[in-house]
Amino acid sequence: MEEKLVLPLLKRACDISLKAYAPYSGFGVGCAVLLKDGRIIEGVNVENASYPVTLCAERAALAQVVTQGLIHLVSAIAIVTKAVPPVFPCGMCRQFMDELLPKNTPIIVGGHDGQWLKSDIAELLPYSFNRNSLEAEL
Ligand code: THU
Repeated sequence: MEEKLVLPLLKRACDISLKAYAPYSGFGVGCAVLLKDGRIIEGVNVENASYPVTLCAERAALAQVVTQGLIHLVSAIAIVTKAVPPVFPCGMCRQFMDELLPKNTPIIVGGHDGQWLKSDIAELLPYSFNRNSLEAEL
């Protein structure tokens, strides 16, 4: 994926992270999902006084992509947090991505300072539990 596509996508994720509802952790996360037609769908983390109810930014964004019937069009995902160096998605979000996206979908993480790193689901969740696991014979 070319840098000229990465930087504007990270900017969208960074801007939207300011809308995070994160009163408990103070750790706002923004996610921007790039579609093959150039559209971008965003999400933020939404925390809850009952902490485990919290929804991560990645799952918030991807649920919208599914709702709009666009999941087959995803070409990359960018996530911005204030962590330095940038951090990759939590295990639950990796599992969510593994279910919905091709394993080579670029996952780009960045910080507010412009640093970024790139990986993909194959690297972030090797040996995943997926639909094939359910079909495995004993
Ligand atoms: N969070 C995300 O939104 N995405 C991740 O991949 C990791 C964590 C959120 C959840 C919680 O609101 C805050 O970051 C701290 O864990």
